[in-house]
Amino acid sequence: MICTLLAIFSLFSKAMAEARERTFIMVKPDGVQRGLVGKIIKRFEEKGFKLVALKFTWPSEELLKKHYADLASRPFFPGLVKYMSSGPVVPMVWEGLNAVKTGRVMLGATNPADSAPGTIRGDLCIQVGRNIIHGSDSVESAQKEIGLWFTEKEVIGWTPATTTWVYED
Ligand code: RTP
Ligand code: MG
Repeated sequence: MICTLLAIFSLFSKAMAEARERTFIMVKPDGVQRGLVGKIIKRFEEKGFKLVALKFTWPSEELLKKHYADLASRPFFPGLVKYMSSGPVVPMVWEGLNAVKTGRVMLGATNPADSAPGTIRGDLCIQVGRNIIHGSDSVESAQKEIGLWFTEKEVIGWTPATTTWVYED
């Protein structure tokens, strides 16, 4: 009996933890310059994800080199850092069930030439070096990126009134 209760509780808490998965999404300088911030936020809001952090900031090259550290050896890295530091960006944290994986699906393929219509990149941009939005590629990357761009206090825990209409009990 106790074992059954424990098993149910563990399944429940696992489901709750998954529902609280967080991803780091950022409108890149070209997305800001092109006036796409509202449209991009709207996609995540309408999907049902919960906004838990957001800022408007002009990032330093130092921060961007840390953010894209795993790409440091790639030939496009200097151009990437220059592009990403060329103007203000809108970093955000979105929370919800499978937020990392679903977020990547919503963004579409890295190269907009391969991004499916209906995805953000597929609908709103053309070239890989101007692909308007960043999204974490794993839960571990998301945790690293959230820690780079936000303090703990800047990530806000709250319960939207729509929660029970987005998720089953
Ligand atoms: P992101 O990190 O920005 O969400 O993009 P991603 O995961 O889809 O792709 P990733 O391999 O992490 O590349 C990061 C960004 O670098 C630029 N890039 N340029 N010229 C090129 O061949 C090239 N490849 C990548 C893109 O802006 C890409 O989003
Ligand atoms: Mg990436």
